[in-house]
Order: sequence, then structure tokens, then C-alpha cells
Amino acid sequence: MQIQVVDAFSGDVAGAEATVLMVPCYEDDFPLESAVLERDDEVVLQALVDRGALTGKAGNCTYLPTPGRVYGGVLVLGVGKRAAVDAEGVRRATGKACDLLTANRAGTVVLDLARHAAFPAAAVVDALLLGQYEFKVYKKPAETPAVNVGALTVIAPKDGDLNALQRGLELAALASLGANGARHLANTPPNDLTPAKLAEFAEGIAKDSGCECTILEQKQMETLGMGSLLAVARGSVQPPRLIILRHHHSDDAKTIAIVGKGVTFDTGGISLKPGADMHEMKYDMCGAAAVLCAMMNIVELKPAVNVICVVPAVENMPDADAMRPGDIVKAYNGKTIEVHNTDAEGRLILADALAYTVDKYKPDAMVDLATLTGACVVALGHHAAGLFTGDDSIAEALIAAGETTGERVWRMPLWDDHDKLIEGNHADICNIGPREGGAISAAAFLKQFVGETPWAHLDIAGTAWGAKHLPYLSPKHASGYGVRLLTAWILKQAG
Ligand code: BES
Ligand code: MN
Ligand code: ZN
Repeated sequence: MQIQVVDAFSGDVAGAEATVLMVPCYEDDFPLESAVLERDDEVVLQALVDRGALTGKAGNCTYLPTPGRVYGGVLVLGVGKRAAVDAEGVRRATGKACDLLTANRAGTVVLDLARHAAFPAAAVVDALLLGQYEFKVYKKPAETPAVNVGALTVIAPKDGDLNALQRGLELAALASLGANGARHLANTPPNDLTPAKLAEFAEGIAKDSGCECTILEQKQMETLGMGSLLAVARGSVQPPRLIILRHHHSDDAKTIAIVGKGVTFDTGGISLKPGADMHEMKYDMCGAAAVLCAMMNIVELKPAVNVICVVPAVENMPDADAMRPGDIVKAYNGKTIEVHNTDAEGRLILADALAYTVDKYKPDAMVDLATLTGACVVALGHHAAGLFTGDDSIAEALIAAGETTGERVWRMPLWDDHDKLIEGNHADICNIGPREGGAISAAAFLKQFVGETPWAHLDIAGTAWGAKHLPYLSPKHASGYGVRLLTAWILKQAG
């Protein structure tokens, strides 16, 4: 999407028909504030106000075709009470507006902020990009292809800083396109997105940006003693990968690690899952997609901080050589693990990935993202990721990044008490705890592999797909959750 900030709009008559003038509107707060809207159109819109059809309530969107103007239509974007407008409200309202834009074949949006100082314009960019995302790779092409918004012109607020606004909008576009990249990876079916393909995607990022990429294969992982990850991989004919991308700023800068669960398909293994929703387990690599695509943004933005991105990638299948319930395996840090349920595989691959990241890169802060437990979905639904950490400052920073991006996190307890839940019978630890508090015992398990490193775990099982309350995300697709959150969090660390 082409983004342009201007201080006045004179109109591009040639493209007028496909140009939609978007005017924000507050609840019960009229007349509309626009520098461009023609008097006759104002009269029509006021008539809609008078009959209560146009209210300015959050998400109340009205489209008015306006033939013969420099704009082909007006879209009034209801964003709620003036004092309560925030980025997420604007994202959701714009998400609703996307349907009207698509229905009216809008190719260009002119967002009129001339009389809207301090309007969260970046949220409009987010929602236009996220809201118009489609995944049609495997579908017969439509006879009349849809028109998408390919250009956004923002009329800056009077006395506004045009350059700062432009930069903010471009940053939003980058982050949201990264999120769409993660959605694309996740939506790609598991027969086409194997661990090897995930590694190729990472190599592509490195090739385009010049950042460093290391892919560890099975033999190397055997030598390194990653018995926990390899135990999961054994059940599949698809060989595992450990993917590492590195953005190096300077030796003096602090190092942040982001680690993502990359199970390209999770059958449960020998502890086989029920069939009903098993197809959704192609999304079990959404943590990996999030960290890889956040990294794609990072290598583009080159913030003043070192970032390591690590993805353990496997397929969890019940082949003849698959690990069994009862098996005891040894992880990279020497801890032995009794496998009581082969479906608790995410923590097994993360165990080696986290321990290796800590040992090799000694990060100052580490965050992992994983579609780790159904229990987290039971606890928080699709509205927030579970945040588990003993580190208050990481918690605070992630919660803040969640508020600015709308990718919410909700802190859950993680106390030493919880270590008891995963004690092993015949090994150091067991890969499952009791049913109650299942998301917490999973986090307590991961904690065994991070040593003293300040670390947080985000269980994104509920947020990676399936949310129905966000108009800018179609519930048919993966959400790309985490890309915008991580990008915001890392940029903030870099100052
Ligand atoms: N990938 C699943 C978690 C999951 C389930 C995410 C449903 C989203 C929706 C994970 O590997 C898993 O199977 N976890 C088990 C753990 C249990 C065996 C302790 C679960 O949640 O049932
Ligand atoms: Mn599983
Ligand atoms: Zn899984």
C-alpha cells in the first residue's frame, strides 16, 4: 500500500471514482469535521444523522456514493466518544469499514485528519492491511477480481508534523504486512509447510536482508544432545530443523531472544488427538511464524539492539519409530524428561531451543511464543495471550506493547510452587502436570530450561486463530498474533 501524507488534498480527478474520502466521526458529536467534504454531501450526511442512521458510535460506518466529486464516495468512520478514542477502537472501526471499501471497490482512501489532531492514524493503516488480507493461493481465481485499497493519502492535521506522521504510518504498514506474512505461513497447509520449508523461509529473510542465518539439521542436533526435540521429530518422516536468525547491532548492545514453537502439524503423536478439529493443528507453528516475521521487520528496521530469533521446527506424527508415553529423554541442558503424553510436544522442542539459546547467545531478555496448551484457551478465550514470567519489568513492557498494538497479553501466575506439578517419577521432570492449571504447569516446565535468564512465555493458543470479536481479522485465517507485539516491544527496548 502506497502511503502519502499531505497538508491539503486537491483531488486526483482521473482516479476519483475509486477514491474514497474517509472522515472520522465521534459519537453524537456533529457536524462532521472535514476540510474536503463538499457542502451538498454534508447535507445528505446530516440527513442521515437526523434520522439516527449515522451516529458516530464505534464501528458505525456509512458509505455515500458521490459521483462527480474529486472523491467517488465518502466513508464516515464512527469511532465512538471523542474522549475515549484509542488505537484499538479505530482499528476495529476501520476493520468494519473494510467491508464497505471492498463492496464499493475502493482503490484509494483519502483519510481526512485536517481537523483531527492526535488521531491514531497508524491504526487505520493496520486495519486496512490486516482487514483486507486474503489467502487464495489454493483457490480458483475469481472471475472479477476484488479491488483492494492500494493507496492511502492522509491529510495531516493542521500544524501537524508531516514527516513524523509519514514515518509512523510506514512503520505500522511494515508491522502489519509482517503480520500478514505470518498469517500466510500459518494458513499454508501442512503438506506444503514442513520444517524444511520453514527453514527455507528463514533463509529467504537472511538472503534479502543480509542478516545471519543458521539452520541446524538432525545430525548436528544429535551431536549437541538435543534429545527432547529429536524425540518429537522421530515420529515423522519430515526431518526437524533448528532455525536461527541473528540481527547484530553491536557487541555492547543488549541481546534479545525471541523463540517460537514451530510444530508444522500436531497429530498428538502416539497420544493421538481426536479427529474433530485436528486440521486446526496446522496452526501449531504460529509461534514460529510470529517470531520469524517479527524478525523480518527487525532486520528491515535495524534497531539498536541485538536480536536472536530461534525456531525449533518439527512435525508431531505417530510413525513406527515415534516416541512413546513412558520414554525418558535427555534435553540439551542435561535434564531428563519423562514423557507421559506425546501430545505435550511443544514444551519438549522448546526445552532444547530455550536451553540452547541461553547457552549460546546469553540473551539479556528472552520471550517465547507458543500455541502451547488448550488449557490457555479455556482460561482466557481468544481475547489475550497468557503471559507467564517471574520478571516484572518484562511483564510490564509486554503488557504495554500489547495495549499499543491491540495484541493483548494477560499475566498469569508462575510461582516456585508450580515446579512441584511437573516433578518426574523416574526422571528429573515429567512433560505433563495435572489437568487443572495446565497452562501454568506447561510454563513451569519451560522455566526448567531458561536458567537465570530474564524470560517470559506467551501462550498464544487462543490468540493465534479463532477470534471472532476483531473486525479487522477474519476468523477464517490465522491472526498473525505476536508480530506487531514483538516488533513494538523490541523497538521500545532499542529506545
Ligand atoms: N498444540 C497443542 C495445544 C493446542 C490445543 C493449541 C488446542 C490450540 C488449540 C499442544 O501441543 C497440546 O496438544 N497440548 C496439550 C497438552 C496436554 C497433553 C498436557 C493440550 O493442551 O491438550
Ligand atoms: Mn500437542
Ligand atoms: Zn502442539
